[in-house]
Amino acid sequence: MQIKHFLQFNDLNRDEYEHLFERTRRIKEQFKAYQTYHPLHDRTLVMIFEKASTRTRLSFEAGMQQLGGSAIYLNTRDSQLGRGEPVEDAAQVISRMSDIVMIRTFEQEIIERFAANSRVPVINGLTNEYHPCQILADIYTYIEQRGSIKGKTVAWIGDSNNVCNTWLQAAEVLDFNVHVSTPPGYEVEPERAGLYGTDHYEEFRDPMEAARDADLVTTDVWTSMGFEAENEERMRDFADWQVDGDMMRVANKDAVFMHCLPAHRGEEVAAEVIDGPQSVVWDEAENRLHTQKALMEYLLLGKIN
Ligand code: CP
Ligand code: NVA
Repeated sequence: MQIKHFLQFNDLNRDEYEHLFERTRRIKEQFKAYQTYHPLHDRTLVMIFEKASTRTRLSFEAGMQQLGGSAIYLNTRDSQLGRGEPVEDAAQVISRMSDIVMIRTFEQEIIERFAANSRVPVINGLTNEYHPCQILADIYTYIEQRGSIKGKTVAWIGDSNNVCNTWLQAAEVLDFNVHVSTPPGYEVEPERAGLYGTDHYEEFRDPMEAARDADLVTTDVWTSMGFEAENEERMRDFADWQVDGDMMRVANKDAVFMHCLPAHRGEEVAAEVIDGPQSVVWDEAENRLHTQKALMEYLLLGKIN
């Protein structure tokens, strides 16, 4: 069987997502009913973190244990990865001792090189460019709360970062629209715009216009990991790009608010929004667990019913 990796959202097609969403629903239901389900008995997940994490580590580690397998955590500080061992060599060794690997790192190129030398599936747990596991959980959460995302409008307010890029990819795969509003100088990179095509996304200078009539309003930190040196400048540049109550009021009245977390109340989102009735951020975070269990099951066992 050919190895399947999950390095970008468009590594999977619409049929595969439909399968994953259905499996997630079943796996979540069984978990809530305390039913044991161990399809990955004796399998080992290796998790490599070059950046901090709460949700990604917890959801992968707990998820693998709940599926009957085990998970091993490596970081750059305590392993040879931080001391210059070539990523190709690390991939050869790590993939001979494990069944599946999750990596959180800097450039997308690093994870691509790892995957090219891996004998087992590799999952992107966030790079500077993409965060596909996040959008998998976000779209599942939208479906759970409101039904199909096809034809709906997602408003992305703030930085055109890894999470934004992944929404743009997902819009192409699953056929919905993304309205993006960033401060000048932080727009979606032109080559990415070309890559995604213009059918599914539109840029707006005014964040209120991007949010108008949206079905889902979402944002993320103004300063992503690895960009801390720009923090002060970003605080100034992004000041008018906060998702607040006025912005939610121009969206559809049953619009949901999402944030991948961690969040900064008073910066990218007002407390009244993230702690308000339209916010689904806790379900969104929980669904990282259930969607990634379906993902690991699929990458290791293929389609099962
Ligand atoms: N949303 C997300 O990936 O959170 P962590 O950085 O805590 O893993
Ligand atoms: N854009 C953020 C997401 C964190 C989950 C970052 O890359 O730091």
